[in-house]
Amino acid sequence: MTAWSKRKSNVIKPESADVVQMTHANYKLRTALAIAIAVVPSLSPCMAYAQSAGTPASTPALSTGFKFVEMSGEELFVNVCRGCHMSDGKGAAGAGTYPSLAGNRNLEASGYPVHVVVNGQRGMPPFGTMMSDDQVAAVVNYLRTHFDNNYQDAVTAEDVKIVRR
Ligand code: HEC
Repeated sequence: MTAWSKRKSNVIKPESADVVQMTHANYKLRTALAIAIAVVPSLSPCMAYAQSAGTPASTPALSTGFKFVEMSGEELFVNVCRGCHMSDGKGAAGAGTYPSLAGNRNLEASGYPVHVVVNGQRGMPPFGTMMSDDQVAAVVNYLRTHFDNNYQDAVTAEDVKIVRR
């Protein structure tokens, strides 16, 4: 063995040990990242609702101490309903199925959307405890007069009160 190759192997050995260590640390980091990436989406509220689609709607899906502050139908739709039914009201299908509310004949009988918003229905969480009668009426009236829906018989806070009983 020449002096040169001896020196060279002396230099290379500690280096390659470092490389092995670094590769190992890198692997652990990547594993941790992969686990984090796999876990995060399952924490997103929409997924949680989609997964609980089979449970009774009477189980509170969100903290019952919470109240929405928005008062107009448009603001309520944007901040509460859009997440699942989308900004064009056309819904979405993916991890769960969120029906289209656009041009929806089921909205013709005004008591039905009031009931769904107050009490929830399968994958749709109940919002009755988080909204006043006025807020439920506002968002239902907005929905029934937008997104290709043109039902002019507005619901009132009194109609909502009846559904709550
Ligand atoms: C967490 C997701 C989610 C949110 C938020 C949500 N919905 Fe829904 N909604 C659903 C799902 C899922 C259904 C289908 C329920 C079923 O299977 O009957 C639904 C159904 C409906 C229906 C019945 C549609 C039909 O054709 O029968 C109406 C009306 C409705 N939602 C209105 C609203 C309004 C108004 C809001 C906001 C105040 C809202 N939704 C917020 C998920 C959601």
